Amino acid sequence: MEQQMKRYKAMVEEALERLTFAEGLKDELCSAMRYSLLAGGKRLRGMLALAACEMAGGNVQDALPFAAAIEMIHAYSLIHDDLPAMDNDTMRRGKPTNHVVYGEAMAILAGDGLLTDAFLLMSGGAHPRTLDALREVARAAGSFGMVGGQALDMRQGAPYEGLEAVKAIHRKKTGCLITAPVVAGLMLSKATDQQIACGREYGKHLGVAFQIIDDLLDLVGDEAKMGKHLGKDVAEEKMTWPAMVGQESAWESAKYETNAAVKALEPFGEKAAFLRTLAQDMLSRVN
Ligand code: IPE
Ligand code: IPE
Ligand code: MG
Ligand code: MG
Ligand code: MG
Repeated sequence: MEQQMKRYKAMVEEALERLTFAEGLKDELCSAMRYSLLAGGKRLRGMLALAACEMAGGNVQDALPFAAAIEMIHAYSLIHDDLPAMDNDTMRRGKPTNHVVYGEAMAILAGDGLLTDAFLLMSGGAHPRTLDALREVARAAGSFGMVGGQALDMRQGAPYEGLEAVKAIHRKKTGCLITAPVVAGLMLSKATDQQIACGREYGKHLGVAFQIIDDLLDLVGDEAKMGKHLGKDVAEEKMTWPAMVGQESAWESAKYETNAAVKALEPFGEKAAFLRTLAQDMLSRVN
């Protein structure tokens, strides 16, 4: 597991480092884009794309542009999430946030650049299902997915109430960008429609578990390990899972969602070992 994780992470990291933005232009925009993109991070979403593709007999090289692109979209979502108009955070991945270093205008543009260039990267894929996978990512990133979830998060949950509202926010703002790499990775392999549906179910549950744990770590995590300021959700009166049901029950929900994710992989049998362990490991993550 550990070796496989290292291999996938190194592939994603290398693909990101190889990227060129507005080639030849050594300006502030490129530097702001690289600053957040290459600042570390678990590379969970990139790993999911590569592992899903290999699990279903695909060639990992077909999924690599998507793995990198989804990490670019994720990095953009973090830059914008940290802006003063949103969560107003000054630390990310152990470093000052993008707008603190480059100013708000450049941080907005760095996010815009990463998002748009991600689609440029995916569009160059050679696999016959490239367009299907690209559509999947577009749906997950935009108003139907992450951006829609961030809008709900800003308005604190409307149009639902209580835990249902939090679940809707978690599914969209976080779950969609965790499901998309799994589904795209499967599309770029030999997976059947039924197998893709199982991958979608895995991603949906893993995404909710992941955000519940993020909410919990905001309460009980270690700032140095997390690389971001914690305790912000309570201060900002965010609608989080533990705020709704308490910490103990939130851990139970995270375990329940993780088990549901693992169960969704059953049809893949032993081939799903990596994705199964990855989901379980997230329960004890410290960053
Ligand atoms: C942070 O995502 C934002 C959430 C959706 C909770 P990660 O915890 O995956 O951040 P990195 O990529 O490891 O920095
Ligand atoms: C992250 O949710 C959602 C995104 C889509 C970026 P949070 O706002 O809880 O993420 P952190 O805690 O800032 O990483
Ligand atoms: Mg936020
Ligand atoms: Mg935030
Ligand atoms: Mg958080």
